[in-house]
Amino acid sequence: MKRSTLLHHARHLGAAGLLAMLAACGGDRDAAPERQPATTAAATPKYDSRETLVPAPASLTPGEGRLALGAGTRLLAEGDAARTVATQFAALLGKGRGIEPQLGEGLQETEGAIRFAIDPARAAAASEAYLLEVTPSGATVSAGDAAGLFYGAMTLLQLATVDGDGSAWLPAVRIEDAPRFSWRGFMMDPARHFWTVDQVKQVIDAMALHKLNVLHWHLTDDQGWRVEIRKYPKLTEVGGCRIPAGDGGLDPRTGKPRPYCGFYTQDEVRDIVAYAAARHITVVPEINQPGHATAAIAAYPELGSTDLPLVPSSEWGVFPNLFNAEESTIAFLEDVIGELVPLFPGTYFHIGGDEAVKDQWEASARVQQRMREVGAKTEMEMQSHIVARLEKFLAAHGKRLIGWDEILEGPLPPEATVMSWRGTEGGLEAAREGHDVVMSPSGDLYLDYLQTDSPFEPPGRPATITLEQVYAFEPVPAELEEDKRHHILGLQANLWTEHTRTWERFEHHVFPRLAAVAETGWTPAGRKDYAGFLRRLPAQLERYRAWGIGYAQTPFQVDAVAEDDRKAGTVTVTLSNPLGYAVHYTTDGSEPTAASTAYAGPVTLELPAKLRAAAFADGVALAPARDYRWDAASLLVRSDEQLATCPDAGRLLLRLEDDGPADGERAIFNTTIFYPCWQWNGADLDGVAAVKVRAGRIPYYFQLAHDEPHRKFEPARSAHGELDIHADGCGGERLASVPLPEAPGRDGFIELVAELPAGVAGHRDLCLRFTGDTRPQMWVVDRVGLQLR
Ligand code: ACM
Repeated sequence: MKRSTLLHHARHLGAAGLLAMLAACGGDRDAAPERQPATTAAATPKYDSRETLVPAPASLTPGEGRLALGAGTRLLAEGDAARTVATQFAALLGKGRGIEPQLGEGLQETEGAIRFAIDPARAAAASEAYLLEVTPSGATVSAGDAAGLFYGAMTLLQLATVDGDGSAWLPAVRIEDAPRFSWRGFMMDPARHFWTVDQVKQVIDAMALHKLNVLHWHLTDDQGWRVEIRKYPKLTEVGGCRIPAGDGGLDPRTGKPRPYCGFYTQDEVRDIVAYAAARHITVVPEINQPGHATAAIAAYPELGSTDLPLVPSSEWGVFPNLFNAEESTIAFLEDVIGELVPLFPGTYFHIGGDEAVKDQWEASARVQQRMREVGAKTEMEMQSHIVARLEKFLAAHGKRLIGWDEILEGPLPPEATVMSWRGTEGGLEAAREGHDVVMSPSGDLYLDYLQTDSPFEPPGRPATITLEQVYAFEPVPAELEEDKRHHILGLQANLWTEHTRTWERFEHHVFPRLAAVAETGWTPAGRKDYAGFLRRLPAQLERYRAWGIGYAQTPFQVDAVAEDDRKAGTVTVTLSNPLGYAVHYTTDGSEPTAASTAYAGPVTLELPAKLRAAAFADGVALAPARDYRWDAASLLVRSDEQLATCPDAGRLLLRLEDDGPADGERAIFNTTIFYPCWQWNGADLDGVAAVKVRAGRIPYYFQLAHDEPHRKFEPARSAHGELDIHADGCGGERLASVPLPEAPGRDGFIELVAELPAGVAGHRDLCLRFTGDTRPQMWVVDRVGLQLR
C-alpha cells in the first residue's frame, strides 16, 4: 500500500512518537487529530526509596538516618570481582543520578564510604545472594559471589535518592536478599526483525537493572539466519536477508526489491556474550530445528525436505518447511552447534523444536526411509531421534540441551530441559518426568501480546496480557508434587518480533512488564504483592527515564469510551486507567492536575465537548494527559480500534501495520485473519442515509499450516468482490453492498459510500466485511462514518 498523508491516517507512532492520530473523524470532514502525548511526566515525586525497590527484596529492615552520597563518597573494594562491581556501580550512579563517587583501594575504614566485599563466609548462602547495610556512617554490600555483589549494587542504585537541591543520599537500611529462581529470563527475537549489537546491549543493561540473568537469543527462524557460521557462509549471505512484503520491500526511488538484512558476526557474538557476562547474564543461543528452518534451507537447499526452492520469508506463522533427517543434515547441525559452543560459555543450548508440522516428512519417501533406518515409528520419533543426537553432541561439549515443549511429544533424554510455552501443562508434565523446566507460557509471558486496549498500542497481538496478568503468573504449578518442584528453574518472558519493526515498539512491549517478570523471578512468593508493586512502579518509571529505557505510556494514560445521544446533543464519557491509578480530568481545555476533578463515574457533557484526563499517583501525573474532543460529526465515526470483532470472525485478531511506505510512519489496522469482519454495535441509524467506509489494503502474509482450512471467504459477486454491510450482525439482513475497485488509490486507501435503504432506523449492530479471496492482499477497515440525510 501507499502511504496516505500523515494528516489522514497517522496512527500509533511508537512510545516516543509525537505525531497525530485520528481518534475521531467527521463523516465528511477531517476532525481535529488526537495527539499522542509526549512521553515524559511533568514532575517527579520524592519517594522513600526503601519502599520503591523492584524487584522487592526478600527482607528489608529500615534503619535511622541517612548516608550522604556525592563526588566525595569513596567506593572501597578488595579483589578484582569487588572492584569490578564498584566500578559498575559508579558508572551507573553517574549515568542515572549524575553522582560520580571516587573509587578507592582496599577496605580500610573511611567514614562515609561504601564498601563492596566478597565475603567467603557468605559463600555458603544461596548463590546470587547479598547483604546490604547502610548506616549514617557508611554502607557495605557483601556477598559470597560476584553475582550477589552485583545485585546488591543494583539495589543500592535504586536506594540512591537525589533531592530537588541536588543533594544525594542513601537511607539507612539492612537488606538480606536472594533470588527465588535461578532462571530469570527474557527472549529476544532478532530473526523476524533484526536488533543491532547496541540494542542487544541495551537489553542486557536493562535486564541487569532488573536482576534478570538469562538472555535467550532466538538466532534463527524462517525469516532469517542471524549468526555467522564460518563453515556455511550462505546461512547469512542468503539466509540473512529477506524482502519485506508489499511496498515495504521496494526501494521507493527505484521500485526495485530492497532486502532487509542482518546478522551477528562471531566477533560481535563474543562481544555481546562478554558484555552480558560482566552483568551476570548468561546468553543462551537458539538454533531452531527441524522447523522454523526456511532461511537455512533457502541457503542450503540440500538441508530441506522438499524440492521446492525457498527464500527467507517475509510471511509470519507456521511454515511447512523442515530440515530433512539425513545424517548429513544432523552433521550440519552439529557443525553449527560446534562453531557456536565455544562462543557461549553458559550451560544451556536451545535447539528449538517448536511448531514442526510434519506434512513434508509424511510426503517424503526419503524421510520415510530414514525413519525406517533409525527405527522411528512416527515423524515425532524421527524428531526425537535428532533431539537425542544433538543432546549427546551437546553433552560431549559440556552443554545441556533445552528445547520448546513439543520435544516432550516423543522420547526425550532425561537430561533435556523443557521450555514450556503452550501453557504450563508441558512444564508440569516434564517436571513430573524429572526434566528441568523453564516456564514461558504464551498466555502469560509473551510480550508481543498488547498490554492495553489503547489505540496507541503498537502492532502486535491484541489479545491483551496486562501488567497484572504478567505479575500474577506463578511458575510453580500448584498441583506439582513437592519433591518435583526443584525442577522448575524459573520463568522467561518472550518478545517475538514479527510485528515489532522499531526499537521504540520493542521497548514499549517490554517495559514495564519485564519489571513484573523480574519480581516473580526474584522475590519470595509470599512477599509478592501487586498493589505494592503498583505503588512502587512510578519510582521504577522515574528510573527508566533516568537510565534511558523507553517504556509503554499506554498503561499510564487515560482511555475514554464515549456513548453519544444524538437527539439530546450529549456525550456520556467513561474514563479509565488500565492499571487503576486515580484519574483526574478537566473539561475546559486546561491541563489536569491532581487537584482537578477526580473521576468517579460516567460524565455527561453537552456537545461540542472537550475533556483532558491523566492518571495520577502521589499527586504526580504518570503520563501526559490525553486530550479528547467530541462534536456532532465526530460521534458519527468509529476507527477500527473502536469497532468490535464479529463474534464469528474466528481466531487470531492481529494489530497489523500497513506495508508502506517503505520509510516513515505507517497506518495500523486491527483485523482478524481467518474471517476478517468488523462490527459497530448499537449504531444509531435514525436519519442515516449512507455508511462511508475508509479501507486500506495490506499483504495477506500468513502461514497457517493446519489451520489454513479454517479460513473463510464469502464468495465475491463481482470482479473484485464487494464491501457488504449487514444489520444485526453478519448473519442479519444485508443493508448495502458496494463493489470494490481492483486496487486502492495512490494513498493506499479507498473511500466507499454504501447507501442504506429508506426506513432503516433504530440502534443496530452493523457488520462490515469484504467478499472474495483477495490473497495475497486483504482489505481492512480503517474507519466507518454514518452520513445523515
Ligand atoms: C513458540 O512460540 N512457537 C515457541
